[in-house]
Amino acid sequence: MTATTALRGRLLSFLAAPKGVGDAASYHYLPDGVVVVEGGRIIRVGPAAEILPTLPAGTVVDHYPDDLILPGFIDAHLHFPQTQVIASYGAQLLEWLQKYTFVAEQRYADPDFAERQAQWFLAELLANGTTTAAVYGSVHPQSAEAFFAESERLGTAMIAGKVMMDRHAPPALLDTAQSSYDDSKRLLQRWHGRGRQRYAITPRFAITSTEAQLETAGALAREFPDAYVQTHIAENRKEIETVKELFPDSRDYLDVYDRYGLLGPKTLFGHCIHLEERERQRMAETGSVAVFCPTSNLFIGSGLFPLRELQGRELARRDPPIRIAVATDVGGGTSYSMLRTLGEGYKVQQLQGTNLSALEAFHLVTAGNAEALGLEQEIGVIAPGRFADLVVLDARATAAMAHRMEAVDGDVEEELFILMTLGDDRSVKATYVQGRRVHEREGTRSRSPA
Ligand code: GUN
Ligand code: ZN
Repeated sequence: MTATTALRGRLLSFLAAPKGVGDAASYHYLPDGVVVVEGGRIIRVGPAAEILPTLPAGTVVDHYPDDLILPGFIDAHLHFPQTQVIASYGAQLLEWLQKYTFVAEQRYADPDFAERQAQWFLAELLANGTTTAAVYGSVHPQSAEAFFAESERLGTAMIAGKVMMDRHAPPALLDTAQSSYDDSKRLLQRWHGRGRQRYAITPRFAITSTEAQLETAGALAREFPDAYVQTHIAENRKEIETVKELFPDSRDYLDVYDRYGLLGPKTLFGHCIHLEERERQRMAETGSVAVFCPTSNLFIGSGLFPLRELQGRELARRDPPIRIAVATDVGGGTSYSMLRTLGEGYKVQQLQGTNLSALEAFHLVTAGNAEALGLEQEIGVIAPGRFADLVVLDARATAAMAHRMEAVDGDVEEELFILMTLGDDRSVKATYVQGRRVHEREGTRSRSPA
């Protein structure tokens, strides 16, 4: 029998997608709550006064009286081999790929290097409170192998795949249609559904795949319908023009992927900034997910993600709406922090004359992204039966935050907005995976028997 443990603090978890500012029915907040964990899963949640007296004698309770405890953050798109590409100067997408990314990714041919980088990368995600992510490897199967092995060791739920790319990149980064099929299939059979690991068939984007390779990606998706598919689309104007030149028979960019059977509820499309209306309709009817990567879109100068238009809120209502996720897109993105990502996401919406409320934002990085990944029965909310993947957030982490918080009178929504505007990894006091503390900010914990 595994021991019972517990966390005590200010619990916040979403019940539904918030409709905007002040939607108190969308979340559950317990100002002094306890989460009880057994065997890596949450078994009970409730007010401390109710739960504490029922805990078995000697149960260890990690107590965070001033902090918010939320479901661990979920990052729906980032690149494991780009940790030394982040913050590369002066280029837009296609040049940025050639000048920086395709140079850095070559180092992942070395399995020892990949292993060290996987350790660093996953530790950094956890230090930012991110407990699940959809991750691109390099072209080398050993990069995905190293990533999954480390994730399995940590007990995290991760989605990943080796990128498939057989043209328009340096020879050292190219596979072939056949080898990409074989390598992806081997990785998929080894890792998809093994513990908490899941595989994503990952054709990088239409520019770096021949028709033959997209065909094999589609074949894999048909053979393994519960595997994920992840790729990029409509990020940059030159990228879109190039795709139209390379695939003159396709109606538009999305149609390239559609022809090979790559759309559907398990497909994650990074960016979706410049989609045409027909593509938007097709995204909606296939249940494909549009992934919003604000820090990347600003940093690489790609454009402004039209969140409200994709959701169909401010134009004619779209029915069904396009499913939305949010992500860092490191190393095009400039921060591992989902708090920073939401802060920049807010600004991207401001530039389009609309707002992203704190409730919507925190829903997106928890329950919203869990639903977008089809993992809502496992993660994304604090509720019995879900994995105890949790983040402990300190809204007074810096002098400026503490000072700003002095003007807040118990309004949780305002506190969340301060966290997403001023917060980063310094606000992550601790991170838990399956109830086990896997990250702790220095010098901050109080631990007591019940
Ligand atoms: N499109 C194709 N590859 C990439 C990548 O690595 N990052 C971004 N942001 N866009 C891409
Ligand atoms: Zn990307």
